[in-house]
Amino acid sequence: MSTPDDPIGFGESDSSHGETLLEIEGLTKYFAADSGLFAGLNFEPDQFPPVSVGIDQVEAVDDVSFEIKKGETLGLVGESGCGKSTLGRTILRLLDPTDGTIRFKGEDLAELSGEQLRQKRSEIQMIFQDPQSSLDPRMKVGRIIEEPMQAHDMFDDEGREARAKELLEKVGLDPRHYNRYPHAFSGGQRQRINLARALSVDPDFVVCDEPVSALDVSIQAQVMNTMEELQDEFGLTYLFIAHDLSVIRHISDRVAVMYLGHIVELAAKEELFENPQHPYTKALLESIPVPDPRESGARGVLEGEVPSPQDPPSGCRFRTRCPRLIAPEEYDVSDEEWAHTRAFMRAVKRRTFEATSAAELRRKFFDGELPRGEAGEIVDEAIDLLATDRDRDGEGDGTVTEDDWNDAAELLLESFAERSICARKRPAYDLESEYGSETHFAACHLHR
Ligand SMILES: Nc1ncnc2c1ncn2[C@@H]1O[C@H](COP(=O)(O)OP(=O)(O)OP(=O)(O)O)[C@@H](O)[C@H]1O
Ligand code: SF4
Ligand SMILES: [Mg+2]
Repeated sequence: MSTPDDPIGFGESDSSHGETLLEIEGLTKYFAADSGLFAGLNFEPDQFPPVSVGIDQVEAVDDVSFEIKKGETLGLVGESGCGKSTLGRTILRLLDPTDGTIRFKGEDLAELSGEQLRQKRSEIQMIFQDPQSSLDPRMKVGRIIEEPMQAHDMFDDEGREARAKELLEKVGLDPRHYNRYPHAFSGGQRQRINLARALSVDPDFVVCDEPVSALDVSIQAQVMNTMEELQDEFGLTYLFIAHDLSVIRHISDRVAVMYLGHIVELAAKEELFENPQHPYTKALLESIPVPDPRESGARGVLEGEVPSPQDPPSGCRFRTRCPRLIAPEEYDVSDEEWAHTRAFMRAVKRRTFEATSAAELRRKFFDGELPRGEAGEIVDEAIDLLATDRDRDGEGDGTVTEDDWNDAAELLLESFAERSICARKRPAYDLESEYGSETHFAACHLHR
């Protein structure tokens, strides 16, 4: 079931499960690409004056919409740099949104500022990944937990101490450790202190930004269990950010998958894991566990690079890495012919093979048979550029040059990739769920 007229109406959840606490619509956060003195000034030798003011910006979060129901946990997953933290911080107004609304209990946080915003901050809290750096080493634990209460004028000294001790117990620590310093605690315990601190002001909504990512796997489950118990007891709603799908699977009720600033899929947890519909989600699931790029130095296990958010691909942002890119309508090609063409285009773009004879290239990529019609003619032209036995009008010695590779890649990308619906239109479709009754959103034209 597609909704082409409603490109951003996704992520709606079954209202029978509770009232909506937070609803974001069209939320966008762009950063200036460089804050240096000459940021945004481009040198253009062909024009006068030879400078122009560029609008170089990092499209970290682009037109994101979803809602979170009271008491639920929405998991947010995606590779490093896809915009998860920026989205979380923008919702909390730690960053100013470039565009969009953040409706929290009916009030638009994007519109608030100053004292109004400060007051709201007790209702929305954040927990960060690194408990080491987020806890002041010179402050005693009790003081750390009491600080937000003090900032919001909650209770007197005695009341704050009593609440801090109670919270220590609630998060699974010993209230007698009230006077200890953070260094006396393990990583998992420090994250529990953070939790107590966030809960001290009795928030309704907590953005948890990779709260267990730095912890050992055995400790992760314990901390998540405590978070779930506290959620029930205090009626909390979580936006839980993680790059690890097993963590997301543990804690979420629904899951949003993010890629390069866009939400590409959003569904109830079981539906997402058992019936994933977006090629990016499928790739992530096939690569469980997603390696932490900070540790391995790798950018995930997907083929190719994540494009820069400064110049993201048009249409579907996943298209430059998508194994399912859709054939442009103007070519009459079979699925098999298109699969061959797509594989050839990718191999040329990434130069994953050596130039060889035209016949060998045809055999290697097309089983000897080029696609029919115009598509075949284009492929033939590209093969000709890369063939060592091509007739070069008496020029050269049959060497395939750098220019030839570039020309072939450009020809194929312009003729095929850029003409695909995947490049021309941003996808957004609501599907029927196989598991449960909630909406399944998938941003992929395969569902058109
Ligand atoms: N203050 C900033 N100024 C400019 N660019 C920024 C800023 N903060 C983040 N970015 C860029 O925005 C994009 C999204 O970053 P973000 O930290 O939100 O990603 P993430 O999904 O949380 O990644 P990770 O999994 O590594 O934490 C990245 O390209 C990042 O470089
Ligand atoms: S819209 Fe196209 S490029 Fe994007 S995920 Fe779907 S098939 Fe792939
Ligand atoms: Mg982050």
